[in-house]
Amino acid sequence: MFDLIVKNGTLVNHNGIGIGDVGIKNGKITAIGDLKTQSADKVIDATGLHILPGLIDTQVHFREPGLEHKEDLETGANAAVLGGICSVFEMPNTNPTTSTNECLDDKVNRATGRMSCDFAFYAGATNDNIDNLSELERQNGCAGIKVFMGSSTGNLLVKDDENVGRILSKITRRAAFHSEDEFILEEEKKYVRANDPSSHYEARSARAALSCTTRLVNLARQYKKRIHVLHVSTKDEMEFLAVHKDLVSIEVLPNHLAFYGPDIYHKIGTFAQQNPPIREKHHNDALWAAVQNGLVDVMGSDHAPHTIEEKSKPYPASPSGTPGVQTMLPFMLDAVSKGRLSLLRVVDLLAHGPNRIFNIANKGRMAIGYDGDLTIVDLKKQVKITNDIIASKSQWTPFDGETLTGFPTHTIVRGEIVMTNGEIIAKGLGKPIQFQENIH
Ligand code: DOR
Repeated sequence: MFDLIVKNGTLVNHNGIGIGDVGIKNGKITAIGDLKTQSADKVIDATGLHILPGLIDTQVHFREPGLEHKEDLETGANAAVLGGICSVFEMPNTNPTTSTNECLDDKVNRATGRMSCDFAFYAGATNDNIDNLSELERQNGCAGIKVFMGSSTGNLLVKDDENVGRILSKITRRAAFHSEDEFILEEEKKYVRANDPSSHYEARSARAALSCTTRLVNLARQYKKRIHVLHVSTKDEMEFLAVHKDLVSIEVLPNHLAFYGPDIYHKIGTFAQQNPPIREKHHNDALWAAVQNGLVDVMGSDHAPHTIEEKSKPYPASPSGTPGVQTMLPFMLDAVSKGRLSLLRVVDLLAHGPNRIFNIANKGRMAIGYDGDLTIVDLKKQVKITNDIIASKSQWTPFDGETLTGFPTHTIVRGEIVMTNGEIIAKGLGKPIQFQENIH
């Protein structure tokens, strides 16, 4: 009757937390409840485990095409499913950038048959492709438009209000923004201290982040558009955004919660360098509060791999970004074990939140009719995170040496068991994610 039944687990979904079974047929969830008398081709006994809706990482950089020495779509997706992630939204700062219809199609073609999780690709805005964005955002496999208002890795940049306004006037879906004010970043380059990565948050200041976010929200209000502010990193922005939730959704990153400056720079140096930067403790405290009080809509890993050799260059020649798609969920489960987060909030941030703000058609809820995506976790399993368990080509993690409590045991994508206990057993079955505004 079913292709797969997951039995005897503790379900975590819109109904709360309770023991039950989930049945999947033809890739969809078709029953939830007591399925003891039912049969299936495959059965997973999840006694003692928690069954979550399939989790979604809405910000990863998988580097293909053009930067495959750091990562590719296949290795990035493998790292994702090992970390309990069923679907990813991938970023456009590849080479070439994902800023034309052809480049987006090319990514979908490259992903098909190779990625182990489902996928959508952001299209990057440039000063030259604005007239084409409304078509691009409707293309199959498109997660929406991504705008870099401050420069980071790669050369995508739209820094001025006039062009950001033009973008907002053309599009209808919620676009995602890297919000650091390029004009202020230019001025602040003088604060870079050679060989001192702890100067990174002085050279890309909280003032630059707040200035850009304020400009952006004003533009969104003028054009009456929804916006998603990626990796919010400051207390100041959280206070400002709290009164603009009608338009704005908010992402935070695990690294901005796990670490703060200057301590982390003293510990791991340039390996902590990312944009926006990891900042001082009072910002870290404010981000935790925003996660706990519900202001934050989603967490994304911002998996941004660079090789150990590249990251070992002296600051500021070292590139910004750290890998994280495999460690995001373990980090959050560890926070659950420490009482800083509830398991329901983890599901809210990595499933219900993405479903709601991006209008994902059939993912992000464990409910009848949705895709048979499940992430099964063992809340008690302790794992020492080391560089050698990292599947990303970059082969390192800022969590190296840390023991975390709580770990994914199975990643199930549309009814297929893709990962079980650290082993990938089905490869390359990923498909484009469908969005309500964009069903293909
Ligand atoms: O630190 C970062 N790295 N921030 C970004 O915005 C881009 C990313 C990358 O692609 O390396």
